[in-house]
Amino acid sequence: MSTAGTLAGQVAVVTGASRGIGRAIAGSLIAAGARVAIVARGAGPLEEEAAALGANCRAFPADLADGATVATLAKALVAHYGNVPDLVVNNAGLFHVARAHELSPEAFTNTVQVNLVAPFLLVRALLPDMRARGRGHLVTIGSIADRAIFPENAGYAAAKHGARALHEVLRAELVGTGVRASLVSPGPVDTALWNDVLAEGRPGYPPREAMLAPSAVADAVLWVVTRPPATNIDELRLTRS
Ligand SMILES: NC(=O)c1ccc[n+]([C@@H]2O[C@H](COP(=O)([O-])OP(=O)(O)OC[C@H]3O[C@@H](n4cnc5c(N)ncnc54)[C@H](OP(=O)(O)O)[C@@H]3O)[C@@H](O)[C@H]2O)c1
Repeated sequence: MSTAGTLAGQVAVVTGASRGIGRAIAGSLIAAGARVAIVARGAGPLEEEAAALGANCRAFPADLADGATVATLAKALVAHYGNVPDLVVNNAGLFHVARAHELSPEAFTNTVQVNLVAPFLLVRALLPDMRARGRGHLVTIGSIADRAIFPENAGYAAAKHGARALHEVLRAELVGTGVRASLVSPGPVDTALWNDVLAEGRPGYPPREAMLAPSAVADAVLWVVTRPPATNIDELRLTRS
């Protein structure tokens, strides 16, 4: 079924969209007619992606590990588009693989900050106006690790379990407001997230050719956000068949 034009007139923000899953989500939302703000730290690659994605894409460089920067980002989005976004896709994330006693406190904290605290701060900044408007959609990119536990995953598992819990609280609070909240949780996806992990030759991880493509996650997100307004997809989990 074609989704071209189904998001015309809507504004989306996608964090972590300079590459990987976020980049694929931004592309599919734009193809469906949305104007999309993309966020990541590296301004150069982000601007390049925005240019490649066309006139309906704009880069908003920001380090989401910094709480003050998230607040500034929210204000910049409202200033640029004249209102809060219709779709907020909290996708930016990172992964440190190490046994708990070998994971640095900085790596643990940074993982929780980017995967969990930043989505909370962005939602907190944008949600009052979304509620007042009586429409909008919060999409959280979770992970297989938001329900399952894997060794060497202390920071990521804690952050993703927390992100799922935050999503479930939001969903409960938003019933009947017109604002929707969805969790999209993929299994392994072939992105740069794995570059360092697999370069270390760790056994037990799936080969990249057996992972989902980023476009599969983007398809899932597009399906979730194009359901009729009275339907909320609470949670969607996908793995490679
Ligand atoms: N790949 C998988 O197997 C997999 C599976 C399940 C769920 N996920 C989740 O999917 C999401 C995207 O992962 P991915 O695989 O696409 O990763 P990726 O290819 O490494 O992309 C991560 C994106 O997040 C941005 N980012 C990282 N730290 C940031 C920060 N402090 N502030 C702003 N942006 C930041 C990166 O850009 P900069 O580095 O320029 O900031 C990049 O655009 C994550 O939440 C991840 O946990 C991934």
